[in-house]
Amino acid sequence: MLKVIYLLTALCIGSLQATKMVCYYDSSSQYREGSAQVSLQDLEPALQFCNYLVYGYAGVDPETYQLRPINKELDVGRNHYRTITNLRRNHPQLLILLSVGGDRDRFNDSSYNPYLDLLENQAHRNAFVNSAVALLKTFDFDGLDLAWQFPKNHPKVVEGKIKKAWHYIKSLFTGTKVVDENAEEHKTQFATLTRELKDAFRTDGLILTLTMLPHVDASLFIDIPRVIPAVDFVNLGSYDFQTPERDPKVADHTAPLYEMPDRDPSHNIDYQVTYWLNNTAPSNKINIGIPAYGRSWVMTCDSGITGFPPVINTRGPGAAGNQNRVPGLMSWPEICEKIQRDKELEGEDAPLRKVGDPRQRYGSYAYRSADDNCLYGLWVGYEEPSTAAIKSSYVFAKSLGGVALFDLTLDDFRGQCAGEKYPILRSIKFKL
Ligand SMILES: *[C@@H]1O[C@H](CO)[C@@H](O)[C@H](O)[C@H]1NC(C)=O
Ligand SMILES: *[C@@H]1O[C@H](CO)[C@@H](O)[C@H](O)[C@H]1NC(C)=O
Repeated sequence: MLKVIYLLTALCIGSLQATKMVCYYDSSSQYREGSAQVSLQDLEPALQFCNYLVYGYAGVDPETYQLRPINKELDVGRNHYRTITNLRRNHPQLLILLSVGGDRDRFNDSSYNPYLDLLENQAHRNAFVNSAVALLKTFDFDGLDLAWQFPKNHPKVVEGKIKKAWHYIKSLFTGTKVVDENAEEHKTQFATLTRELKDAFRTDGLILTLTMLPHVDASLFIDIPRVIPAVDFVNLGSYDFQTPERDPKVADHTAPLYEMPDRDPSHNIDYQVTYWLNNTAPSNKINIGIPAYGRSWVMTCDSGITGFPPVINTRGPGAAGNQNRVPGLMSWPEICEKIQRDKELEGEDAPLRKVGDPRQRYGSYAYRSADDNCLYGLWVGYEEPSTAAIKSSYVFAKSLGGVALFDLTLDDFRGQCAGEKYPILRSIKFKL
């Protein structure tokens, strides 16, 4: 009896310790201005909570197919790769990965995708694999994360009433628009690439992980039974289901945990997780992605005044926040500040009204409907510490591998909102 209890305890502790906190770090934050710029000192307080730090992003050279720095001036010129991998000195528990792709690797000709070309040819794959080993070893990374830039599912054109549009959406599922004519081949070749990388990484004990980007269809491109054994874990792109770029006219929750009525049934975390588990992925290799930001839309006079999502007749990305200055994207501290503003303020300074999610299924939103002159309308669906904690509990309940946070530089790293630094990261970590 004692033995059994001991064994169960050991198993429990084992599984607790195995829950991973994967922290994405977007190095382009180095180029931000003012208070959105993240220094090494700013990063430091987060690292104790992370098992993995993922450096975003490296790219693929479209001519040689080698792995290469995207911001050579910063990554190599200013030695940022090395600076980051040196963080391990003070944080020996930390494994530091270099991520390739992540939608940050841009090419002049948008119809050309070297991420597919690379897969098609043994010599190209070899060039990639060999250059990856060399680059990782040169800069002392612990491994490579494949945030592979597969073609994405097309946005669903949603006009007017969502329900009416739903019939149109369904017709898309049956394949009127083809994402990639050679998807079958690419799927097989990508699985081969992961095996080739794993084999090449073995001697040096390098880690290989996979990050699914939002709207990349795993059923098209990932041969799960072959890919899973080659990778240490998979981070699901379970966020940005609705974005102002893809869906400019309809604002909606961007990263719901569960399926919402009358929406694409695949646009939620639970579906994504279930899909992988259904297809032989062991639960402890699946990490859910949690964003540290919200997506914002301009509300017009025709968007109504309730803010209740889906909000129709929006007009694309909301104005850039005053820290990150990216239209349509608001970091948690930017949102927090707008919610807490003085109620007396008016016009574009007026506070947003927050609506929480007592049922703990879809996430929070905040809004300011357009005024009498049709101005200053804004709607933002977002993650906050409490909703991130709910997702973290889901990970625990389902015995998943862990959480990948996108990303540290959009969390409140200065503690501007409630005084505590990295509130979303902490909130996830303490629930895991
Ligand atoms: C892409 O465009 C940039 C600037 O316009 C140019 O310098 C570069 O050579 C181009 N690259 C390719 C592969 O055509
Ligand atoms: C998972 O499998 C169950 C049982 O076969 C099925 O009902 C469900 O639709 C599947 N879900 C996904 C997301 O693949």
